[in-house]
Amino acid sequence: MKKINEILGMKYPIIQGAMANIATGEFAAACSNAGAFGIVAVGGLPPEKFEEEIIKCKKLTDKPFGVNIMLMHPQADDIADIIARNPVAAVTTGAGNPGKYISMWKEKGIFVMPVVASVLLAERMVNAGADAVIAEGTESGGHVGEMTTMALVPQMVDRLDVPVIAAGGIADGRGMAAAYALGACGVQVGTCLLASNECPIHENYKQAVVKAGDNATVVTGRSAHAPVRVLKNKMARKYLQMELKGSDRDELEKLTLGSLRKAVFDGDADNGSLMSGQICGLVKEIRPLAEIFEEMTEGCNKVIDDLQGR
Ligand SMILES: Cc1cc2nc3c(=O)[nH]c(=O)nc-3n(C[C@H](O)[C@H](O)[C@H](O)COP(=O)(O)O)c2cc1C
Repeated sequence: MKKINEILGMKYPIIQGAMANIATGEFAAACSNAGAFGIVAVGGLPPEKFEEEIIKCKKLTDKPFGVNIMLMHPQADDIADIIARNPVAAVTTGAGNPGKYISMWKEKGIFVMPVVASVLLAERMVNAGADAVIAEGTESGGHVGEMTTMALVPQMVDRLDVPVIAAGGIADGRGMAAAYALGACGVQVGTCLLASNECPIHENYKQAVVKAGDNATVVTGRSAHAPVRVLKNKMARKYLQMELKGSDRDELEKLTLGSLRKAVFDGDADNGSLMSGQICGLVKEIRPLAEIFEEMTEGCNKVIDDLQGR
């Protein structure tokens, strides 16, 4: 089995997960320069701003990088065209079916990797032409599905003929080795990168991740069919109370409007949406990206050697 770094051409088999408002051109370039595969995230950016971030990333790195499109973006068609006009090494897609864009991207030589949380969806993506899939378990930070990485990855590996990348709950060499054991060809990580020197989030957000324990996250938005994993704080607790009371989608949206920006830019640890995965309890210090990627890969090799009794 080819590892994802052999397919995409980076040093380590690690993809930096897209993170709305965080994965800028500068951050993606820093990840690629540190040996992983950087991804510029569109999040809620207007199309022209997204294009600027892609161009910025191209200027800052000569290494391969990709982009992420959230298909629920109101201008998804324009964003898909921008990706075709600025061909990058790969595109990851979330929150919808990218089927109608896949042939346009592939004509430009772009490798297409939808992020999926169920085998059925993954099969649909592969039938639509996806080159690989990213199996994202519910341990992840941000928008989540129901299945765990442990249960999802081997089922996807068994059912698909394309490479599967594991995401959700991975932050060190043990996690990476587990992903390989389940049949994945590499990993995508998000939470552990929040605690990097280069990550452009407010210091308060980084500290909240570093101080978080194993049970520090909660999923909000299940009642609105938009589940999001965040650190427990004043806002998350209020949101959950409102969901219990049966508040409608509009009221809930009012509470969370701009809340990720509050966390990322203002460092508002009470009222911001501090998206984070369950693996935050393993993330104990803020470190350079290069160290995070190198240690994860070396740690993985050591685990595999140990298992083989070397
Ligand atoms: C703060 C944050 C924001 C995220 N935003 C996005 C996004 O905009 N698009 C997307 O496809 N995934 C998003 N994700 C998911 C990540 O790309 C990645 O799959 C996930 O973080 C991997 O799991 P982990 O957090 O356990 O490492 C986000 C994750 C975090 C932590």
